[in-house]
Amino acid sequence: MQSPYGRMGGDAKVRELVTRFYDLMDREPSYAGIRKLHKPDLSEAREKLYLFLSGWLGGPPLYAERHGHPMLRARHLPFSIGAAERDLWLQCMSRAMEETGVESGLRAELHQAFLKTADWMRNRDS
Ligand code: HEM
Repeated sequence: MQSPYGRMGGDAKVRELVTRFYDLMDREPSYAGIRKLHKPDLSEAREKLYLFLSGWLGGPPLYAERHGHPMLRARHLPFSIGAAERDLWLQCMSRAMEETGVESGLRAELHQAFLKTADWMRNRDS
């Protein structure tokens, strides 16, 4: 069975997905609640999410090669993340997957996987 990375179309597709994800976050007022947690310049966030997702989707572990263990939860502790921020992140990612043509079955699988990871990032009760 091919990895989600392979099924999605590999490196170029992961890059496209991340580009769309942050473009949407940047320009859609409905995502302002999470856009404001990020730096004005999204270049580093774009690069790091691309590197991370490559490995997370079953492709080359680019993030680990360059930066070591991601320590994802610890790295999100400086930002206040509750259910509202988690859900905005997931909505933005679902829309990015749809708009970049990720096939619907794969999209549903990835939504579940993103949900687990995003929920784990929550560090605020309400
Ligand atoms: C739950 C809602 C989430 C919020 C509000 C959030 C927010 C953020 C913010 C504000 C940053 C810092 C970016 C900057 O430099 O300006 C960041 C970094 C990052 N996020 Fe998230 N994030 C969320 C979920 C996720 C999920 C689900 C993943 C992975 C599937 C993820 C992966 C990353 C990565 C890889 C970085 C870069 C870490 C580094 O500094 O090396 N995030 N996130």
